[in-house]
This record gives sequence, C-alpha cells and structure tokens, in this order.
Amino acid sequence: MLEHDIDHVLFSEEQLKTRVAEIAAQIDKDYEGKEPLLISILRGSFVFMADLVRQIHVPCTVDFMAVSSYGSGTVSSGQVKIVKDLSEPIEGKDILVVEDILDSGNTLSYLLKLLEARHPASIRLCTLLDKPERRTKPVAVQYSGFSIPDEFVVGYGLDYDEKYRNLPYIGVLKPSVYGGK
Ligand code: PRP
Repeated sequence: MLEHDIDHVLFSEEQLKTRVAEIAAQIDKDYEGKEPLLISILRGSFVFMADLVRQIHVPCTVDFMAVSSYGSGTVSSGQVKIVKDLSEPIEGKDILVVEDILDSGNTLSYLLKLLEARHPASIRLCTLLDKPERRTKPVAVQYSGFSIPDEFVVGYGLDYDEKYRNLPYIGVLKPSVYGGK
C-alpha cells in the first residue's frame, strides 16, 4: 500500500480543503468583474486545480499545459520543453497559472516569460506549495497555499517516480523509498 511509504502527513485532507477555499475566496475578490483563464501545469497540479476551480465563483475558463525539464537527474538544466501547449491563444486574457509546487523556480520563470510574450492582459501565479529555500530563479507568486521546508513531499497530485499522486493528503516520503537516510 502507498500509505506504508509515508513518513508523516504534512497537510491533511481537511487542512488542504480549508486552505484551497481561502485561496479561492481571495481569487474571487481579486477577479471580481473579470473572467480569468486558469492554466493548470500538468501533471502535478491536476488535483489542486480540480479542487480550486470548484471553489471559485467568478466566471472562469480552464486550459492545460504540460512541460518537462530538459536533462535528467535531480539537477535541472533550467531549460523547459513544452510537451503540450495551450488549446487557445491568451492575448488580452487575465491569466492565472496554477501549479502544485514552486521549487527552484526554473519551470515557472521560463513559463511565465513564455506566456507573457503572448500578450495576456494580466498574468498571476497560484501555487499550492512553495519551497522558498530552494529558489535559484526569482518568481513572483501572488497566491501561495503553504510554504514548506525542503522535504520530499508527495500526494494530492505530487509524485515520486510518477506514483503517490492519488493520495488525498500531502505527506513526506520515507527516505528509504528513494534511497536516502
Ligand atoms: C514540478 C512542479 C513544477 C516544477 C517546479 O513538476 O509541478 O512544474 O516541478 O520545480 P522548479 O521550481 O524547480 O522548476 P514536475 O517536473 O515534478 O512534473 P509533474 O508536474 O509532471 O509532476
């Protein structure tokens, strides 16, 4: 069972639900009279996106984009490849990028520049988790669920080796699972 690989729960289903509702309320307030386009960056953000969008009350639309870092291993090369692009142009639209986690900032700094070049009316970033101590590229975040320490977290969309995304909570993986101490 997946649960056996979890050292401890960092955020329970209830905590996630409460925080997602708070973020959605802030988004509703900030986008009053507007129709934001929420862009989910696959794959990690699909669970957060699904919960967030159902707590938002302003009219909004959704789109999806998939990216991957070039290179292998744990050190990112800083280059990002678009695996799946958006379905529609974003010119003149109010964009809200939805991510599960902001880590080094490589992916988002590249992606935000790329999206800005398509001339949206505005662009903001919403991330459920933020690991500020890991940042190597500055990224402006307007909506952040939780700041977390540099621990290996999985669940609620986040994976290790593509698994654990289906856990309903966010947990810290036992180091023995990934060969750590
Ligand atoms: C995660 C996350 C961000 C990125 C953040 O995706 O969803 O896109 O890493 O890391 P960075 O700030 O160091 O760039 P991941 O590459 O794990 O892919 P996934 O969403 O398919 O799980």
